[in-house]
Amino acid sequence: MSRLYLLFLSVLLAELNDETAAENCAPGFRVSDMSCIDEDECEDEPCGKSATCFNTQGSYYCQCVTGFWINKDKVNFTADEAVECRDINECRELNNICGPNTECSNSAGSFYCTCLPDFMASNGQERFNASQSVTCKDTRSGSKSSAGLQHFNPTLPTFLPVILWMLMIYQ
Ligand SMILES: *[C@@H]1O[C@H](CO)[C@@H](O)[C@H](O)[C@H]1NC(C)=O
Ligand SMILES: *[C@@H]1O[C@H](CO)[C@@H](O)[C@H](O)[C@H]1NC(C)=O
Repeated sequence: MSRLYLLFLSVLLAELNDETAAENCAPGFRVSDMSCIDEDECEDEPCGKSATCFNTQGSYYCQCVTGFWINKDKVNFTADEAVECRDINECRELNNICGPNTECSNSAGSFYCTCLPDFMASNGQERFNASQSVTCKDTRSGSKSSAGLQHFNPTLPTFLPVILWMLMIYQ
């Protein structure tokens, strides 16, 4: 037999071998170098928008990215389930997440809080979120209390009558 013929035969045998091996690979595995290796299903991006794909041995699963969900109870899913990740409306789902005297605004994948008119955030920022432990202070009562403080300040006007009285006595 010629060398060429031998080469041809060995290539043919190798291919046959691969095909038999492929038939013997479990679902989610493919043949490589005459053995079954895991197929990375995530390469085909099966999870859709706003989701992360996790490859596993022989399979995969999807999870929505932070701020998105399928519903309250579902974390893992696959493309077979024909579901998609939707934005979580934190303002509706997490009751009063921003605290008192605030307004909550939903955004794609997140949310933010603002103070009601006449209220000011304790961190001085217009927008904040629940993780920053910001409170909204009433700016009107704030100006009232600072006016009240002045009354109790022991300044000259407070002691003026006393001084005048003392001057009268020691005249
Ligand atoms: C999602 O799947 C991963 C991997 O199988 C598993 O570890 C995790 O517990 C699952 N999470 C839920 C909530 O089922
Ligand atoms: C809250 O605000 C901080 C500071 O701006 C930011 O780093 C963080 O990602 C925000 N968290 C959420 C859930 O929006």
